[in-house]
Amino acid sequence: MEKLLNELSINGRRAYRFPDLDVEAHKAIDPSLLRQGSLDLPQMAEVDVVRHYARLSRLAYGVDDGFYPLGSCTMKYNPKLNEALSHLEGFTELHPLADAEHSQGSLKILYETVDMLCKVTGMDQGTLQPCAGAHGEYTGLKLIRAYHLRRNDSKRSVMLIPSSAHGTNPASASVNGFETVAVASDERGLVDLKDLESKLSDNVAGIMLTNPNTLGLFELDIRRIADMVHACGGLLYYDGANMNAIMGFGRPGDMGFDVMHLNLHKTFSTPHGGGGPGSGAVLVKQALAPFLPVPVAAKGLKGYSLDWDRPQSIGKVSGFWGNFLVIVRAYAYLLSMGSDGLREASAMATINANYMARCISAFFPIAYPGLCKHEFVLSLAAFKEETGCSALDVAKALLDKGYHPPTMYFPSLVHEALMIEPTETESRETLDGFIEALKCIHDKAYSNPEELHSSPATTVIGRPDEAEAAKRAKVNWL
Ligand SMILES: Cc1ncc(COP(=O)(O)O)c(C=O)c1O
Repeated sequence: MEKLLNELSINGRRAYRFPDLDVEAHKAIDPSLLRQGSLDLPQMAEVDVVRHYARLSRLAYGVDDGFYPLGSCTMKYNPKLNEALSHLEGFTELHPLADAEHSQGSLKILYETVDMLCKVTGMDQGTLQPCAGAHGEYTGLKLIRAYHLRRNDSKRSVMLIPSSAHGTNPASASVNGFETVAVASDERGLVDLKDLESKLSDNVAGIMLTNPNTLGLFELDIRRIADMVHACGGLLYYDGANMNAIMGFGRPGDMGFDVMHLNLHKTFSTPHGGGGPGSGAVLVKQALAPFLPVPVAAKGLKGYSLDWDRPQSIGKVSGFWGNFLVIVRAYAYLLSMGSDGLREASAMATINANYMARCISAFFPIAYPGLCKHEFVLSLAAFKEETGCSALDVAKALLDKGYHPPTMYFPSLVHEALMIEPTETESRETLDGFIEALKCIHDKAYSNPEELHSSPATTVIGRPDEAEAAKRAKVNWL
Protein backbone atom coordinates (compact mmCIF):
# COMPACT_ATOMS: atom_id res chain seq x y z
CA MET A 1 0.00 0.00 0.00
CA GLU A 2 1.37 3.44 -0.93
CA LYS A 3 1.99 5.64 2.12
CA LEU A 4 0.55 9.15 2.40
CA LEU A 5 2.76 12.16 1.79
CA ASN A 6 2.56 12.93 5.52
CA GLU A 7 3.91 9.45 6.32
CA LEU A 8 6.73 9.83 3.80
CA SER A 9 7.68 13.26 5.15
CA ILE A 10 11.14 13.79 6.66
CA ASN A 11 11.83 16.97 8.63
CA GLY A 12 14.00 19.41 6.73
CA ARG A 13 13.56 17.87 3.26
CA ARG A 14 12.65 20.39 0.57
CA ALA A 15 11.70 20.19 -3.11
CA TYR A 16 12.81 23.75 -3.69
CA ARG A 17 14.61 26.37 -1.61
CA PHE A 18 14.09 30.07 -2.20
CA PRO A 19 17.25 32.15 -2.16
CA ASP A 20 17.72 34.31 0.96
CA LEU A 21 16.09 37.71 0.70
CA ASP A 22 18.53 40.43 -0.29
CA VAL A 23 16.03 43.22 0.43
CA GLU A 24 14.11 44.08 3.56
CA ALA A 25 11.03 41.87 4.02
CA HIS A 26 7.79 43.68 3.31
CA LYS A 27 5.44 43.32 6.24
CA ALA A 28 2.12 43.53 4.45
CA ILE A 29 0.15 41.55 7.00
CA ASP A 30 -0.41 42.69 10.54
CA PRO A 31 1.70 40.33 12.77
CA SER A 32 -1.30 39.75 15.03
CA LEU A 33 -3.05 38.05 12.10
CA LEU A 34 -0.16 35.72 11.27
CA ARG A 35 -0.30 32.03 12.21
CA GLN A 36 1.85 31.11 15.20
CA GLY A 37 3.70 27.80 14.84
CA SER A 38 4.23 25.60 11.83
CA LEU A 39 1.63 24.35 9.34
CA ASP A 40 2.79 20.73 9.56
CA LEU A 41 2.99 20.24 5.80
CA PRO A 42 4.77 17.16 4.37
CA GLN A 43 8.49 17.81 3.80
CA MET A 44 9.92 15.96 0.82
CA ALA A 45 12.48 16.13 -1.96
CA GLU A 46 11.12 16.74 -5.46
CA VAL A 47 12.14 13.30 -6.70
CA ASP A 48 10.22 11.59 -3.88
CA VAL A 49 7.08 13.60 -4.61
CA VAL A 50 7.27 12.70 -8.29
CA ARG A 51 7.79 9.00 -7.54
CA HIS A 52 4.91 8.99 -5.06
CA TYR A 53 2.50 10.29 -7.68
CA ALA A 54 3.93 8.09 -10.42
CA ARG A 55 3.36 5.01 -8.20
CA LEU A 56 -0.19 6.15 -7.42
CA SER A 57 -0.95 6.68 -11.10
CA ARG A 58 0.08 3.08 -11.82
CA LEU A 59 -2.40 1.81 -9.24
CA ALA A 60 -5.28 3.54 -11.02
CA TYR A 61 -7.17 1.86 -13.84
CA GLY A 62 -8.48 3.98 -16.68
CA VAL A 63 -9.91 3.60 -20.13
CA ASP A 64 -6.41 4.04 -21.58
CA ASP A 65 -5.32 0.90 -19.65
CA GLY A 66 -7.96 -1.52 -20.79
CA PHE A 67 -11.59 -2.50 -21.28
CA TYR A 68 -13.98 -0.55 -19.03
CA PRO A 69 -17.52 -1.88 -19.55
CA LEU A 70 -19.19 0.33 -16.94
CA GLY A 71 -22.85 0.20 -18.00
CA SER A 72 -24.66 3.54 -18.14
CA CYS A 73 -21.33 5.36 -17.89
CA THR A 74 -20.02 5.02 -21.45
CA MET A 75 -16.32 4.67 -20.72
CA LYS A 76 -15.19 4.70 -24.31
CA TYR A 77 -11.84 5.62 -25.77
CA ASN A 78 -11.87 9.22 -26.96
CA PRO A 79 -9.63 10.57 -29.72
CA LYS A 80 -6.56 12.28 -28.27
CA LEU A 81 -6.88 14.86 -31.05
CA ASN A 82 -9.92 16.36 -29.31
CA GLU A 83 -8.03 16.49 -26.03
CA ALA A 84 -5.17 18.32 -27.75
CA LEU A 85 -7.53 20.81 -29.40
CA SER A 86 -9.22 21.64 -26.11
CA HIS A 87 -5.77 22.45 -24.68
CA LEU A 88 -4.98 25.12 -27.28
CA GLU A 89 -3.88 28.29 -25.53
CA GLY A 90 -6.52 30.37 -27.27
CA PHE A 91 -9.12 28.41 -25.31
CA THR A 92 -7.37 27.77 -22.02
CA GLU A 93 -6.08 31.32 -21.60
CA LEU A 94 -9.23 33.14 -22.69
CA HIS A 95 -10.83 35.06 -19.83
CA PRO A 96 -14.51 34.11 -19.47
CA LEU A 97 -15.42 37.78 -19.23
CA ALA A 98 -13.53 38.80 -22.38
CA ASP A 99 -15.87 40.90 -24.50
CA ALA A 100 -17.53 39.51 -27.63
CA GLU A 101 -15.15 41.35 -29.95
CA HIS A 102 -12.19 39.46 -28.49
CA SER A 103 -13.82 36.04 -28.15
CA GLN A 104 -15.50 35.51 -31.51
CA GLY A 105 -13.94 32.04 -31.97
CA SER A 106 -15.15 30.74 -28.62
CA LEU A 107 -18.62 32.23 -29.07
CA LYS A 108 -18.77 30.59 -32.48
CA ILE A 109 -18.01 27.24 -30.84
CA LEU A 110 -20.82 27.74 -28.30
CA TYR A 111 -23.26 28.73 -31.04
CA GLU A 112 -22.32 26.00 -33.51
CA THR A 113 -22.18 23.25 -30.90
CA VAL A 114 -25.79 23.98 -29.90
CA ASP A 115 -26.72 24.17 -33.57
CA MET A 116 -25.14 20.79 -34.40
CA LEU A 117 -26.60 19.12 -31.30
CA CYS A 118 -30.05 20.41 -32.30
CA LYS A 119 -29.60 18.77 -35.70
CA VAL A 120 -28.55 15.47 -34.11
CA THR A 121 -31.51 15.48 -31.70
CA GLY A 122 -34.27 17.20 -33.67
CA MET A 123 -34.59 20.07 -31.18
CA ASP A 124 -34.66 23.85 -31.85
CA GLN A 125 -32.49 25.69 -29.33
CA GLY A 126 -30.33 25.00 -26.31
CA THR A 127 -27.88 25.89 -23.58
CA LEU A 128 -24.46 24.49 -22.70
CA GLN A 129 -24.38 25.88 -19.18
CA PRO A 130 -25.22 22.75 -17.12
CA CYS A 131 -22.08 20.95 -15.94
CA ALA A 132 -23.38 17.36 -15.63
CA GLY A 133 -26.23 15.15 -16.76
CA ALA A 134 -28.08 15.61 -13.47
CA HIS A 135 -27.51 19.36 -13.73
CA GLY A 136 -29.08 19.25 -17.19
CA GLU A 137 -32.08 17.41 -15.74
CA TYR A 138 -32.38 20.05 -13.04
CA THR A 139 -32.30 22.80 -15.69
CA GLY A 140 -34.72 21.05 -18.04
CA LEU A 141 -37.25 20.51 -15.25
CA LYS A 142 -37.00 24.17 -14.31
CA LEU A 143 -37.90 24.97 -17.93
CA ILE A 144 -40.94 22.67 -17.71
CA ARG A 145 -42.08 24.42 -14.53
CA ALA A 146 -41.57 27.86 -16.12
CA TYR A 147 -43.59 26.76 -19.16
CA HIS A 148 -46.59 25.67 -17.06
CA LEU A 149 -46.44 28.73 -14.82
CA ARG A 150 -46.31 31.02 -17.83
CA ARG A 151 -49.61 29.50 -18.91
CA ASN A 152 -51.02 30.08 -15.40
CA ASP A 153 -51.18 26.33 -14.90
CA SER A 154 -49.78 26.12 -11.39
CA LYS A 155 -51.35 22.84 -10.25
CA ARG A 156 -48.97 20.61 -12.23
CA SER A 157 -46.87 19.17 -9.42
CA VAL A 158 -46.37 15.54 -10.53
CA MET A 159 -43.40 14.20 -12.51
CA LEU A 160 -43.86 10.68 -13.87
CA ILE A 161 -40.76 8.49 -13.88
CA PRO A 162 -40.57 4.91 -15.20
CA SER A 163 -39.17 2.30 -12.80
CA SER A 164 -36.28 1.69 -15.24
CA ALA A 165 -35.09 5.32 -14.96
CA HIS A 166 -31.64 6.41 -13.95
CA GLY A 167 -31.49 7.37 -10.25
CA THR A 168 -30.74 11.00 -11.03
CA ASN A 169 -34.20 11.42 -12.65
CA PRO A 170 -36.32 11.13 -9.47
CA ALA A 171 -33.62 12.99 -7.56
CA SER A 172 -33.69 15.95 -9.99
CA ALA A 173 -37.50 16.01 -9.94
CA SER A 174 -37.56 16.07 -6.12
CA VAL A 175 -34.92 18.79 -5.93
CA ASN A 176 -37.15 20.80 -8.29
CA GLY A 177 -40.09 20.40 -5.91
CA PHE A 178 -42.07 17.90 -8.02
CA GLU A 179 -43.83 14.91 -6.52
CA THR A 180 -42.34 11.88 -8.27
CA VAL A 181 -44.68 9.07 -9.27
CA ALA A 182 -43.22 5.82 -10.62
CA VAL A 183 -44.59 4.19 -13.77
CA ALA A 184 -44.25 0.39 -13.84
CA SER A 185 -42.31 -1.54 -16.48
CA ASP A 186 -44.01 -4.39 -18.32
CA GLU A 187 -42.66 -7.87 -19.06
CA ARG A 188 -40.65 -6.45 -21.99
CA GLY A 189 -38.82 -4.03 -19.65
CA LEU A 190 -40.62 -1.10 -21.34
CA VAL A 191 -43.10 1.48 -20.00
CA ASP A 192 -46.36 -0.25 -18.98
CA LEU A 193 -48.94 1.72 -20.97
CA LYS A 194 -51.86 0.72 -18.76
CA ASP A 195 -50.04 1.87 -15.67
CA LEU A 196 -49.10 5.12 -17.42
CA GLU A 197 -52.72 5.71 -18.40
CA SER A 198 -53.85 5.27 -14.79
CA LYS A 199 -51.38 7.91 -13.61
CA LEU A 200 -52.16 10.65 -16.11
CA SER A 201 -54.15 13.62 -14.82
CA ASP A 202 -54.17 17.41 -15.06
CA ASN A 203 -51.69 17.47 -12.16
CA VAL A 204 -49.01 15.89 -14.32
CA ALA A 205 -46.26 18.34 -15.31
CA GLY A 206 -44.47 15.77 -17.44
CA ILE A 207 -42.67 12.47 -17.78
CA MET A 208 -38.92 11.84 -17.74
CA LEU A 209 -37.88 9.08 -20.10
CA THR A 210 -34.55 7.58 -21.04
CA ASN A 211 -34.65 6.04 -24.49
CA PRO A 212 -33.05 3.56 -24.78
CA ASN A 213 -33.76 2.98 -21.11
CA THR A 214 -31.27 1.78 -18.52
CA LEU A 215 -31.94 -1.82 -19.56
CA GLY A 216 -30.55 -0.87 -22.97
CA LEU A 217 -34.02 -1.26 -24.51
CA PHE A 218 -35.67 1.11 -26.96
CA GLU A 219 -39.16 2.28 -25.92
CA LEU A 220 -41.10 0.96 -28.91
CA ASP A 221 -44.27 2.79 -27.87
CA ILE A 222 -42.62 6.16 -27.59
CA ARG A 223 -44.95 7.95 -30.05
CA ARG A 224 -47.99 6.60 -28.22
CA ILE A 225 -46.51 7.64 -24.85
CA ALA A 226 -45.85 11.14 -26.23
CA ASP A 227 -49.43 11.46 -27.45
CA MET A 228 -50.85 10.26 -24.13
CA VAL A 229 -48.75 12.68 -22.03
CA HIS A 230 -49.33 15.63 -24.37
CA ALA A 231 -53.08 14.94 -24.40
CA CYS A 232 -53.23 15.52 -20.67
CA GLY A 233 -51.19 18.74 -20.95
CA GLY A 234 -47.87 17.31 -19.73
CA LEU A 235 -44.46 17.65 -21.37
CA LEU A 236 -41.89 15.01 -22.24
CA TYR A 237 -38.37 15.18 -20.85
CA TYR A 238 -35.76 13.08 -22.63
CA ASP A 239 -32.81 11.87 -20.61
CA GLY A 240 -30.36 11.75 -23.52
CA ALA A 241 -27.41 10.38 -21.58
CA ASN A 242 -27.76 7.27 -23.75
CA MET A 243 -27.83 9.15 -27.06
CA ASN A 244 -24.70 7.22 -28.08
CA ALA A 245 -27.06 4.36 -28.92
CA ILE A 246 -29.22 6.09 -31.51
CA MET A 247 -27.33 8.96 -33.16
CA GLY A 248 -28.26 9.12 -36.82
CA PHE A 249 -31.04 6.55 -36.34
CA GLY A 250 -33.62 8.39 -34.23
CA ARG A 251 -34.13 11.90 -32.89
CA PRO A 252 -35.86 12.68 -29.59
CA GLY A 253 -37.42 15.76 -31.22
CA ASP A 254 -39.14 13.50 -33.76
CA MET A 255 -40.26 11.08 -31.04
CA GLY A 256 -42.27 13.87 -29.39
CA PHE A 257 -39.91 15.09 -26.65
CA ASP A 258 -40.07 18.75 -25.63
CA VAL A 259 -36.87 19.14 -23.65
CA MET A 260 -33.80 16.99 -23.11
CA HIS A 261 -30.23 16.82 -21.95
CA LEU A 262 -27.20 15.15 -23.46
CA ASN A 263 -24.17 14.00 -21.53
CA LEU A 264 -21.39 15.44 -23.67
CA HIS A 265 -19.11 13.57 -21.24
CA LYS A 266 -20.46 10.20 -22.38
CA THR A 267 -21.26 10.43 -26.06
CA PHE A 268 -19.23 13.39 -27.27
CA SER A 269 -15.59 12.77 -26.44
CA THR A 270 -15.09 13.34 -22.72
CA PRO A 271 -14.91 10.24 -20.51
CA HIS A 272 -17.62 9.70 -17.93
CA GLY A 273 -17.32 7.83 -14.66
CA GLY A 274 -14.22 9.53 -13.37
CA GLY A 275 -15.98 12.35 -11.61
CA GLY A 276 -14.23 14.84 -13.87
CA PRO A 277 -15.73 17.85 -15.63
CA GLY A 278 -18.90 17.17 -17.58
CA SER A 279 -21.45 18.99 -19.68
CA GLY A 280 -25.19 18.33 -19.61
CA ALA A 281 -26.25 20.28 -22.70
CA VAL A 282 -30.00 21.06 -22.59
CA LEU A 283 -31.96 21.28 -25.83
CA VAL A 284 -35.57 22.37 -26.24
CA LYS A 285 -38.40 22.75 -28.68
CA GLN A 286 -39.33 26.31 -29.63
CA ALA A 287 -42.14 26.55 -27.04
CA LEU A 288 -39.61 26.27 -24.21
CA ALA A 289 -36.85 28.40 -25.77
CA PRO A 290 -37.87 31.70 -24.09
CA PHE A 291 -37.13 30.16 -20.67
CA LEU A 292 -33.57 28.98 -21.44
CA PRO A 293 -30.85 30.18 -19.04
CA VAL A 294 -29.18 33.48 -19.91
CA PRO A 295 -27.04 34.23 -21.78
CA VAL A 296 -27.67 32.36 -25.03
CA ALA A 297 -24.95 32.34 -27.70
CA ALA A 298 -26.33 34.21 -30.70
CA LYS A 299 -25.27 34.98 -34.27
CA GLY A 300 -26.05 38.32 -35.89
CA LEU A 301 -24.88 40.71 -38.55
CA LYS A 302 -21.97 41.83 -36.36
CA GLY A 303 -20.84 38.29 -35.60
CA TYR A 304 -21.35 36.17 -32.49
CA SER A 305 -22.55 37.53 -29.15
CA LEU A 306 -24.12 36.55 -25.84
CA ASP A 307 -27.81 37.40 -25.71
CA TRP A 308 -28.85 38.50 -22.20
CA ASP A 309 -32.09 40.12 -23.26
CA ARG A 310 -34.43 37.24 -22.49
CA PRO A 311 -37.01 38.43 -19.97
CA GLN A 312 -38.65 35.02 -19.43
CA SER A 313 -35.36 33.20 -18.77
CA ILE A 314 -35.03 31.03 -15.65
CA GLY A 315 -31.71 32.84 -15.04
CA LYS A 316 -28.21 31.44 -14.88
CA VAL A 317 -27.57 27.86 -13.80
CA SER A 318 -23.79 27.89 -13.55
CA GLY A 319 -20.78 30.17 -13.36
CA PHE A 320 -19.90 31.74 -16.70
CA TRP A 321 -20.85 29.61 -19.74
CA GLY A 322 -20.45 25.99 -18.54
CA ASN A 323 -17.45 23.64 -18.77
CA PHE A 324 -16.06 25.23 -21.89
CA LEU A 325 -13.21 22.81 -22.63
CA VAL A 326 -15.62 19.85 -22.54
CA ILE A 327 -17.68 21.74 -25.09
CA VAL A 328 -14.60 22.25 -27.28
CA ARG A 329 -13.98 18.48 -27.25
CA ALA A 330 -17.61 17.86 -28.25
CA TYR A 331 -17.32 20.43 -31.05
CA ALA A 332 -14.15 18.79 -32.38
CA TYR A 333 -15.78 15.35 -32.13
CA LEU A 334 -18.92 16.46 -33.99
CA LEU A 335 -16.92 18.06 -36.79
CA SER A 336 -14.43 15.23 -37.17
CA MET A 337 -17.09 12.49 -37.09
CA GLY A 338 -19.67 14.19 -39.28
CA SER A 339 -23.21 12.85 -39.48
CA ASP A 340 -22.09 9.56 -41.07
CA GLY A 341 -19.46 9.03 -38.39
CA LEU A 342 -21.94 9.60 -35.56
CA ARG A 343 -24.35 7.13 -37.11
CA GLU A 344 -21.56 4.59 -37.46
CA ALA A 345 -20.53 5.08 -33.81
CA SER A 346 -24.06 4.27 -32.64
CA ALA A 347 -24.28 1.31 -34.99
CA MET A 348 -21.00 -0.10 -33.66
CA ALA A 349 -22.00 0.48 -30.02
CA THR A 350 -25.21 -1.46 -30.65
CA ILE A 351 -23.54 -4.24 -32.63
CA ASN A 352 -20.87 -4.69 -29.95
CA ALA A 353 -23.48 -4.85 -27.18
CA ASN A 354 -25.61 -7.39 -29.06
CA TYR A 355 -22.57 -9.52 -29.92
CA MET A 356 -21.53 -9.65 -26.28
CA ALA A 357 -25.07 -10.21 -25.01
CA ARG A 358 -25.52 -13.13 -27.38
CA CYS A 359 -22.20 -14.75 -26.40
CA ILE A 360 -22.64 -14.22 -22.66
CA SER A 361 -26.24 -15.45 -22.66
CA ALA A 362 -24.83 -18.95 -23.26
CA PHE A 363 -23.87 -19.02 -19.55
CA PHE A 364 -25.37 -15.95 -17.78
CA PRO A 365 -29.02 -15.02 -18.51
CA ILE A 366 -29.88 -11.59 -19.91
CA ALA A 367 -32.55 -9.96 -17.70
CA TYR A 368 -34.64 -8.87 -20.69
CA PRO A 369 -33.53 -10.92 -23.71
CA GLY A 370 -33.97 -9.75 -27.27
CA LEU A 371 -32.28 -7.01 -29.24
CA CYS A 372 -30.67 -4.38 -27.06
CA LYS A 373 -29.13 -1.04 -27.92
CA HIS A 374 -25.78 0.09 -26.46
CA GLU A 375 -25.88 -1.92 -23.21
CA PHE A 376 -27.53 -4.92 -21.57
CA VAL A 377 -28.18 -6.21 -18.09
CA LEU A 378 -27.40 -9.69 -16.75
CA SER A 379 -29.37 -11.19 -13.89
CA LEU A 380 -27.24 -13.44 -11.68
CA ALA A 381 -30.06 -14.28 -9.24
CA ALA A 382 -30.34 -17.96 -10.24
CA PHE A 383 -26.54 -18.28 -10.47
CA LYS A 384 -26.29 -16.99 -6.90
CA GLU A 385 -28.81 -19.56 -5.68
CA GLU A 386 -26.89 -22.37 -7.34
CA THR A 387 -23.35 -21.38 -6.42
CA GLY A 388 -23.62 -18.92 -3.52
CA CYS A 389 -21.58 -16.45 -5.61
CA SER A 390 -23.08 -13.00 -6.08
CA ALA A 391 -22.79 -10.32 -8.76
CA LEU A 392 -20.31 -8.63 -6.43
CA ASP A 393 -18.13 -11.79 -6.33
CA VAL A 394 -18.09 -11.91 -10.13
CA ALA A 395 -17.23 -8.21 -10.37
CA LYS A 396 -14.38 -8.64 -7.87
CA ALA A 397 -13.06 -11.71 -9.71
CA LEU A 398 -12.91 -9.66 -12.93
CA LEU A 399 -10.37 -7.38 -11.25
CA ASP A 400 -7.99 -10.34 -10.98
CA LYS A 401 -8.42 -10.92 -14.70
CA GLY A 402 -7.31 -7.33 -15.36
CA TYR A 403 -10.71 -5.84 -16.21
CA HIS A 404 -12.70 -3.01 -14.74
CA PRO A 405 -16.00 -4.57 -13.61
CA PRO A 406 -19.37 -3.66 -15.12
CA THR A 407 -21.89 -1.56 -13.20
CA MET A 408 -23.35 -3.63 -10.34
CA TYR A 409 -26.81 -3.81 -8.80
CA PHE A 410 -28.33 -1.31 -11.23
CA PRO A 411 -31.02 -0.87 -12.44
CA SER A 412 -32.70 -1.90 -9.22
CA LEU A 413 -35.58 -3.73 -10.94
CA VAL A 414 -33.12 -6.53 -11.83
CA HIS A 415 -31.85 -8.76 -9.00
CA GLU A 416 -28.10 -9.42 -8.85
CA ALA A 417 -27.64 -7.14 -11.86
CA LEU A 418 -24.48 -6.67 -13.88
CA MET A 419 -24.86 -3.95 -16.49
CA ILE A 420 -22.42 -4.14 -19.39
CA GLU A 421 -21.72 -1.38 -21.92
CA PRO A 422 -18.93 -2.34 -24.31
CA THR A 423 -19.05 0.93 -26.37
CA GLU A 424 -18.22 1.35 -30.05
CA THR A 425 -14.47 1.72 -29.63
CA GLU A 426 -13.62 -1.86 -28.61
CA SER A 427 -12.33 -4.50 -30.98
CA ARG A 428 -13.67 -8.01 -31.47
CA GLU A 429 -10.54 -9.40 -29.73
CA THR A 430 -11.14 -7.24 -26.65
CA LEU A 431 -14.78 -8.28 -26.46
CA ASP A 432 -13.86 -11.96 -26.84
CA GLY A 433 -11.21 -11.65 -24.12
CA PHE A 434 -13.75 -10.25 -21.69
CA ILE A 435 -16.37 -12.87 -22.56
CA GLU A 436 -13.79 -15.60 -21.97
CA ALA A 437 -12.83 -14.10 -18.59
CA LEU A 438 -16.48 -13.98 -17.55
CA LYS A 439 -17.01 -17.60 -18.65
CA CYS A 440 -13.96 -18.69 -16.68
CA ILE A 441 -15.32 -16.95 -13.54
CA HIS A 442 -18.73 -18.53 -14.14
CA ASP A 443 -17.18 -22.02 -14.27
CA LYS A 444 -14.99 -21.34 -11.24
CA ALA A 445 -18.11 -20.51 -9.20
CA TYR A 446 -19.30 -24.10 -9.67
CA SER A 447 -15.92 -25.76 -8.98
CA ASN A 448 -14.39 -23.48 -6.33
CA PRO A 449 -16.79 -20.77 -5.09
CA GLU A 450 -14.48 -19.94 -2.18
CA GLU A 451 -11.93 -18.52 -4.60
CA LEU A 452 -14.51 -16.06 -5.87
CA HIS A 453 -15.61 -15.06 -2.37
CA SER A 454 -12.02 -14.10 -1.52
CA SER A 455 -11.20 -12.30 -4.79
CA PRO A 456 -9.58 -10.00 -5.74
CA ALA A 457 -6.15 -11.36 -4.85
CA THR A 458 -4.08 -9.07 -7.08
CA THR A 459 -5.23 -5.55 -6.20
CA VAL A 460 -3.94 -3.26 -3.47
CA ILE A 461 -7.38 -2.93 -1.92
CA GLY A 462 -9.60 -5.99 -1.93
CA ARG A 463 -13.02 -5.60 -0.41
CA PRO A 464 -13.40 -2.35 1.49
CA ASP A 465 -16.48 -1.88 3.63
CA GLU A 466 -18.20 0.24 0.99
CA ALA A 467 -21.05 1.40 3.24
CA GLU A 468 -18.63 2.46 5.98
CA ALA A 469 -16.36 4.15 3.43
CA ALA A 470 -19.27 6.14 2.01
CA LYS A 471 -20.95 6.98 5.33
CA ARG A 472 -17.85 7.71 7.39
CA ALA A 473 -15.29 8.85 4.88
CA LYS A 474 -11.97 9.69 6.53
CA VAL A 475 -10.56 12.46 4.41
CA ASN A 476 -8.24 14.26 6.81
CA TRP A 477 -4.75 13.46 8.08
CA LEU A 478 -4.38 12.97 11.90
C1 LIG B 1 -29.27 7.57 -18.16
C2 LIG B 1 -28.51 8.56 -17.33
N1 LIG B 1 -29.10 9.69 -16.94
C3 LIG B 1 -28.45 10.62 -16.21
C4 LIG B 1 -27.14 10.45 -15.83
C5 LIG B 1 -26.50 11.48 -14.97
O1 LIG B 1 -25.36 12.07 -15.53
P1 LIG B 1 -24.26 12.72 -14.59
O2 LIG B 1 -23.54 11.60 -13.92
O3 LIG B 1 -23.37 13.51 -15.49
O4 LIG B 1 -24.96 13.61 -13.60
C6 LIG B 1 -26.47 9.28 -16.23
C7 LIG B 1 -25.08 9.05 -15.84
O5 LIG B 1 -24.42 8.18 -16.24
C8 LIG B 1 -27.17 8.31 -17.00
O6 LIG B 1 -26.58 7.17 -17.40
